Amino acid sequence: MKKILILGATSAIAESCAKIWARKGASLFLVGRNEEKLNKLNSDLKLNGSKEIFSYLMNLNTIEEHKKMLDIAQNKLGDLNIILIAYGNLPNQENCEEDVSSTLDEIKTNAISTIALLTEISKRLSKKKSGTIAVITSVAGDRGRASNYVYGSAKAMVSTFLSGLRQRLDKSNISVVDIKPGFIDTPMTKNYKKNFLWSSPEKISPKIVKAIDNGESEIYVPSFWKIIMLVIKYIPGFIYKKIRL
Ligand SMILES: NC(=O)c1ccc[n+]([C@@H]2O[C@H](COP(=O)([O-])OP(=O)(O)OC[C@H]3O[C@@H](n4cnc5c(N)ncnc54)[C@H](OP(=O)(O)O)[C@@H]3O)[C@@H](O)[C@H]2O)c1
Repeated sequence: MKKILILGATSAIAESCAKIWARKGASLFLVGRNEEKLNKLNSDLKLNGSKEIFSYLMNLNTIEEHKKMLDIAQNKLGDLNIILIAYGNLPNQENCEEDVSSTLDEIKTNAISTIALLTEISKRLSKKKSGTIAVITSVAGDRGRASNYVYGSAKAMVSTFLSGLRQRLDKSNISVVDIKPGFIDTPMTKNYKKNFLWSSPEKISPKIVKAIDNGESEIYVPSFWKIIMLVIKYIPGFIYKKIRL
C-alpha cells in the first residue's frame, strides 16, 4: 500500500486527492495548521477506507520545524512513496504593493517554505532512490499579471525549482510533478465571481492522482489551461503591458 505525506492536507484540492488515496487503502500522514479541520479530515478519510492515518499540526512556514516533522512522518509511515505539497495563500495584491513585509510573508508561504521542504525531502528520497514529489503551483506562475504578480512570482519560483530538481533526481528514480491548476472553486477563491472557466477540486483531483501515479512532469488542471497559458505567454510584451487580465 502507498505511503503518502500531504503537506497542507486541509486544502480543498489536497482533501479531494486524499479521499481518492484513502479509498485505495493508502497510509496517510496529514500536515496542517488548523486542528479542527485536520481532525475532521482524519475522520472522513477513515470512513473513506484508509486504515492508517496520522495527523500533525504545524504552520509550514516554521522552517526550523520541518526536519522534526519529516522525521516523525518517516518514523510513522516508513519509506514514503508520495509527498504532496499543497498549501498556499492567495495574497491581497494591493496590500503587498503598499507593504514590503506582506510581500515577503506571501513569498515565504508560497515559495520559500516550499523550497525549504523540497530541499530536505529530496535529500531523504535520493538516499532511497525512489518516490514521487508533487507540488501544487499555479497557472499564475506562467506569466506575471498586474492583479496577482506577488503570488504568481512565488509560484514561478517553485516551478523553476521543480524543473531543476526533476532533472537532478531523474537518475535517482524520483519523479517530480508540477501541478498547475487554473481557477478552482475552493475556500481560497470564495470571494471570486465564478464563470465557465472555473472547476472544482472533485473534478481535478482524479487527474492529479493519475499524473502522480504516472510520474508526469507537469500538468495543467483542467487541461485547457495549457492552451490558455500558451496564448498568454506568447502575447508580445508591448501589448501585454497594456492589457488587464
Ligand atoms: N483554488 C485555486 O483557484 C488555485 C489555483 C491555482 C493554484 N492553487 C493552489 O492550490 C493549492 C491548494 O489551495 P486550495 O485551492 O485547495 O485552497 P484552500 O482550500 O484555501 O487551501 C489552502 C491551504 O493552505 C493552508 N496553508 C496556508 N498557509 C499555510 C501554512 N503556513 N502552514 C500550513 N498550512 C497553510 C491552508 O490552511 P488553513 O486551512 O489553516 O488556512 C489551507 O488548508 C495552493 O497551493 C494554491 O495556491 C489554487
